[in-house]
Amino acid sequence: MAFYFVLFSSLALSAYGYTVPEQFLEYYNELEGNLGNKMALNPAKEQLTECIEMRGEPGVYQVSSAGQQMACGIFLVGPVDAQVEIDFLTFDVDCKDGGIVGVLDGWEQNGAVFPDAEDMGQDGVRHLTYCGHNRPKHVFRSTGNMALVQYRLPGAATGFIIRVTFPTNPRPCNIVSALPEGKFTLRNYGLKVNCSVMAMYPERLTFTYVNVGVNEALKAGSHAISALKPSGKCSAGSKEDVVEIRGGGAIELKRTSVFKKYCGFHPFTRESHNVLCGATIVRLVSSGKYDNMVNVELAEPLEESLSDMEMDKISTC
Ligand SMILES: *[C@@H]1O[C@H](CO)[C@@H](O)[C@H](O)[C@H]1NC(C)=O
Repeated sequence: MAFYFVLFSSLALSAYGYTVPEQFLEYYNELEGNLGNKMALNPAKEQLTECIEMRGEPGVYQVSSAGQQMACGIFLVGPVDAQVEIDFLTFDVDCKDGGIVGVLDGWEQNGAVFPDAEDMGQDGVRHLTYCGHNRPKHVFRSTGNMALVQYRLPGAATGFIIRVTFPTNPRPCNIVSALPEGKFTLRNYGLKVNCSVMAMYPERLTFTYVNVGVNEALKAGSHAISALKPSGKCSAGSKEDVVEIRGGGAIELKRTSVFKKYCGFHPFTRESHNVLCGATIVRLVSSGKYDNMVNVELAEPLEESLSDMEMDKISTC
């Protein structure tokens, strides 16, 4: 764990003042419909030339040293139900020059990391670093739909080639939304896990299905079609199991505030809430006693409708 933080401070991308979401939006809008296209089985090798790159398509990507000290990164985000697989095909990074390559299972922006360590569980390797003249044999597979390859290549004539694929994730849990809009399902499958969808945009969230902290037997009955209630007023079920709406200036859980919490069984809800923050997170907290599921739609907040909206439907940072 200590090593991971050392690397992050030395590879602090934020120090270069990148605003990731804008580049992102441009790239992913162009990609539209093509995200994680699994048909591209034999993609041509692409030389990456920018210090910060984003890719959402499978491919073979080459990075060659331009002899700078700068820390650079390749942000990889696939479709919501994908994982990211990274295979090093060639590798030549001089340790003595301070050359290093790191792979992060998650997303890093301005020194903040998503998903939260607390929500990642104990298994799996969060961060790996490599240098040397042999290619890493380990094929890296992320837990969510995002991964980050960070590197610093000060030595001339060094570099690496990676093959990136996006295998399907049968149980997506922590998800990055590359675009400001989309439909997402968070589900724990009866496990003691916390799952989140994170977007680096202000969002209008609409819940279309909420089933959190409720026994099968309790689902029948009139309360099923009642309005979505804040969790404090849940009449039945678990107090631990909730779906949270969070927002903040950074993607890190600890730096976000909880604006709303819901629970109960609400299969026909259309409850909306606006989060006007740089980062929006919907987080399903599960004790493991219930099979919880939430469907939520993300969209850009409409300025016109914000002005006549009730104040309790808007949270700001
Ligand atoms: C899930 O989140 C809750 C509340 O933040 C925390 O108490 C719990 O330890 C987390 N559980 C897991 C499995 O990460």
